[in-house]
Amino acid sequence: MLKSFLAMAACALALAVVSVQAASQRPILIKFSHVVADNTPKGQGALLFKQLVEERLAGKVRVEVYANSSLYGDADELEALRKNEVQLLAPSLAKFGQYTQQLQVFDLPFLFDDLDAVNRFQKRAKGRQLLRSMEAHDIVGLAYWHNGMKQLSASKALLLPTDAAGLNFRIQPSEVLDAQFRQLGAQSQAMPFAEVFEALQSGRVQGAENPWSNIYSKNLHRVQPYITETNHGVLDYMLVSNPRFWYAIPHTIRVELEGIVDEVTYAVNRQAEADNRADRQRIEASGSSQVIGLSAEQREAWRNAMRPVWRQFEAQIGADVLKAAQAVNRKSRP
Ligand code: LMR
Repeated sequence: MLKSFLAMAACALALAVVSVQAASQRPILIKFSHVVADNTPKGQGALLFKQLVEERLAGKVRVEVYANSSLYGDADELEALRKNEVQLLAPSLAKFGQYTQQLQVFDLPFLFDDLDAVNRFQKRAKGRQLLRSMEAHDIVGLAYWHNGMKQLSASKALLLPTDAAGLNFRIQPSEVLDAQFRQLGAQSQAMPFAEVFEALQSGRVQGAENPWSNIYSKNLHRVQPYITETNHGVLDYMLVSNPRFWYAIPHTIRVELEGIVDEVTYAVNRQAEADNRADRQRIEASGSSQVIGLSAEQREAWRNAMRPVWRQFEAQIGADVLKAAQAVNRKSRP
């Protein structure tokens, strides 16, 4: 009796060892889900990540990329990450409000003069600290990825801030962005990116704010007759994983993956501005939307109208974070 029990136990143990070995030999699967098209800075970054992993970690790590909200969308992707149903995301910095208020700094209008200033902030100590600001919620930031500066599009020409009064703008789910449009006497409606084209086409909202690459790749210029080049805010991303997944990856593989993340980050951030410039030209060439430039005085009027939002959110964001962000601009201000 004892003999056969021992034999059975030995058998079970052997099976367990084999299945652990088999599991450890199976490649680690990384599902990378995002909401934009492939021909955007983030879309290209995700594909480059997959390509480099396949070249350097073949048999050890496998990457599946799901673009255009085809696996998860804005409403559920962060929850899916926290449950380890996906392992990489790169949501816009406006989409983490539920987990940290500090990242709202990136939504403040006219805070960063340009993408170079954003870059400096992200590289400095405060910016880097923010990558770790959500670990208690099972979200770890691996890198910042650029998209670009946002432009205002609408069903009517927007030259002065008063022109926006009464319009309803689609926003990402951010209290700062809501406050920004309230400053103009406009309304806002938060909705997932996947719904924006339909909402603009049907007139459910009359305006939106997006970088050129998102406008072009989703054909938003076909349903917005006017786009004002305001460059009033930034739309950037945080590449995030679930720390329980990420730190459980065997050390040597994780080091290799981190090297790939650095390389892809460099490529995305070097290319994003040029991609947005090219998409701006494509939109102008399409003739379906009029691109409106602003004089220095007109832009200053937009800045003055939106700027009170900073004070409103300073306490939530943290005066130290806001101060560090203000310090990265190179142009002198009156
Ligand atoms: C948006 O919702 O407008 C953006 O966050 C989409 C994206 O990921 O660029």
